[in-house]
Amino acid sequence: MSPRRPPALVPREVEPEREQQGRDRDEGDAEGDDRVGLVDVAGGADEEAERHQQDEGDGGWREGGEQGAGEYRPLRILSRPMAVFPASAQDLATGLREAGYLAGESTALVAFLAARLGKPVLVEGPAGVGKTELAKALSRYLERELVRLQCYEGLDEAKALYEWNYRKQLLRIQAGEKEWSELQDDIFGPDFLLERPLLHAISASEPVVLLIDEIDKTDQEFEAMLLELLSDFQVTIPELGRIEARTHPVVLLTSNNTRELTEALKRRCLYLWLDYPESELELEIVRMHTPELPAHVAAKLVEVVRLVRELDLKKPPSIAESIDWARALLLLGADDVDEATFRSTLSIIVKHRTDLDTVAERMGLKLGGVLSA
Ligand SMILES: Nc1ncnc2c1ncn2[C@@H]1O[C@H](COP(=O)(O)OP(=O)(O)OP(=O)(O)O)[C@@H](O)[C@H]1O
Ligand SMILES: [Mg+2]
Repeated sequence: MSPRRPPALVPREVEPEREQQGRDRDEGDAEGDDRVGLVDVAGGADEEAERHQQDEGDGGWREGGEQGAGEYRPLRILSRPMAVFPASAQDLATGLREAGYLAGESTALVAFLAARLGKPVLVEGPAGVGKTELAKALSRYLERELVRLQCYEGLDEAKALYEWNYRKQLLRIQAGEKEWSELQDDIFGPDFLLERPLLHAISASEPVVLLIDEIDKTDQEFEAMLLELLSDFQVTIPELGRIEARTHPVVLLTSNNTRELTEALKRRCLYLWLDYPESELELEIVRMHTPELPAHVAAKLVEVVRLVRELDLKKPPSIAESIDWARALLLLGADDVDEATFRSTLSIIVKHRTDLDTVAERMGLKLGGVLSA
């Protein structure tokens, strides 16, 4: 984990209903909440320009100096040149290859457009075809930190975006050093905010690659929460206002297509469908992961996997299984993929009882020729 830094807060005006929500959450706030005053920091153009210069100088994060904690100057998206700047899709494909990922044409093109246009990409496809690895490889190639949000059922804002540090707030309240009116600005300030992956990604001083992995595991409310981030690169925290990204992340969302995602989410993203690769590309991938495996064994393995995929299986073998199989054959010292080898190692690529039966039944018909060749 990277060291925790203060979040890059860009408090601005709070939308009325969000502000109301903030008040609603703040139980026992008899005196009302005038935190809007705290967040209204928009200044004139000159002031803004000066602030921008300062922001460039110190990486963007600053507190309000003499005015003390609770006052934050607006931060802008920094227009720093990218450390690595792909000039074309081909250029990006070469960079990804050096980072250990072999991208097909459409993958390279969409990733290039995402990096250059700053649009999020929704990557869909079956399990094990390289969706997550694409984000990892992009982060290696672009020399950016990878910020990963692993989605699951029930994931909420508190785990994905931010959470108030209730323990710390309580301790501050119990210390009893300040009046309540002063205290509430204090305890709903950045020092009491726990930054979760999404907030971390937009408040990082250096641009990152943000991977929102397996978005289809979450519900539609979570998707709705993401919309502001994906289209405007900002989030709204009721108590603090709008927080704008300091740097523009490259965002990848992955989905196994277990449920249809909303149109609103899709509209904000470029789309990439990653399927099982052509044999030629798969062979290259297998050889990249197991260069010691004899070339003819790798070629036969890829051909067999292709044929197995054509059977009507519940879970066809993916690239991940091809690589696992290649590693196993290497370990076993196999110098051919014959019928005996295939039978004894079948469970590496086929992982459902009914699929095993299907493959066993069809082996003679469909695979016999290749295995005995
Ligand atoms: N184009 C590729 N180049 C190199 N390696 C690849 C490529 N595609 C997949 N792999 C390898 O295949 C394996 C599976 O990839 P990954 O975990 O990204 O799949 P996934 O699509 O995210 O699967 P899931 O939906 O189950 O999460 C990884 O070990 C990865 O390195
Ligand atoms: Mg994955």
